[in-house]
Amino acid sequence: MRSVILAIESSCDETSASVMVNGKVLNNIIATQSVHQKYGGVVPELASRAHQRNIVAVVNEALQEAGILRTDLTAVAFTRGPGLMGSLLVGVSFAKGLSLGLNIPLIEVNHMQAHVIAHFIDDPKPSFPFLCLTVSGGHTQIVLVRDFLDMEVIGQTQDDAVGEAFDKAAKVMGLPYPGGPLIDKYSQDGNPFAFKFPETVMPGLDFSFSGIKTAFLYFLRDEKRKNQHFVEQNLNDICASLQQHLVNMLITRLIQASEKTGIKEISIAGGVSANSGLRKAIKETGDKLGWNVFIPAFEYCTDNAAMIAMAAHYKFIKGEFCGLDVVPLARMPFSQ
Ligand code: KG4
Ligand code: ZN
Repeated sequence: MRSVILAIESSCDETSASVMVNGKVLNNIIATQSVHQKYGGVVPELASRAHQRNIVAVVNEALQEAGILRTDLTAVAFTRGPGLMGSLLVGVSFAKGLSLGLNIPLIEVNHMQAHVIAHFIDDPKPSFPFLCLTVSGGHTQIVLVRDFLDMEVIGQTQDDAVGEAFDKAAKVMGLPYPGGPLIDKYSQDGNPFAFKFPETVMPGLDFSFSGIKTAFLYFLRDEKRKNQHFVEQNLNDICASLQQHLVNMLITRLIQASEKTGIKEISIAGGVSANSGLRKAIKETGDKLGWNVFIPAFEYCTDNAAMIAMAAHYKFIKGEFCGLDVVPLARMPFSQ
């Protein structure tokens, strides 16, 4: 049976739509919300309003570019959670309206599961079982992936996400939101061994990033007392040292997870997987330890609807649809 799925992503600050035909992603339209930049982080109320403004245009562009009419659609998929409630509500309500109006099934997708499934959009694809380090602004997880829709979190942050650590560190250096990509950029010309930062070690395969955030704040405060131009004069070295530190924390746990499970099929996903230091470190570690490493294209690392479409495809095959009474979930475990 021919499947033509429209997928919608609106969990945080990107409004995105993607059209997929028979399991092949045709496009991935993303409207990024610049309104948050001056606030140094995503403002939930502004995010939901921007989704409202953008969603019709984004969906229309996806359909038109793919040469698909609304009446061609065989299902509509959306991000149910986790995410910001006001943002999720926009995508969920829009998808419900389409499902109702066109009389087509509705498919709910878990955003974190979709980040993992992004590996199946393009070749090469990992084989099961594999491990996925999912690193974003809201999550830091090591996921054991047994099948497309069968996943288990075997390690996760007990406080802040690594993306949050990047963004907050950038903020205290006076860089605009989101600071992660800027730290990455300035790191290119910096010395990663210039400064040392402390590490909080959690039990098992878990992470903690709140300690490094505070330590970084105090480090800057102390250095600025000695030299008020410390940040401007050392920006590249500070960024490179911090990035190397955060990447090391991630890689150390990933090595332990691989040893513990015996799995050498290793992947990364989520916004922070766009980080050049992490991409380089995982490739180098993989070469040393005999891993098969999988890294999605940049476009599919940060939030996007193509990954929602891909996850929806596997649910469509299994006939896993949801009712019109479905509600978004700010927190959403894999098993939901
Ligand atoms: O997955 P994502 O787009 O949204 C969430 O679900 O959170 O991830 C966004 C996060 C932000 O914290 C952003 O700073 C970070 O990904 N990020 C990066 C890079 N590109 C995006 N962090 C470090 N280096 C990058 N190149
Ligand atoms: Zn995400």
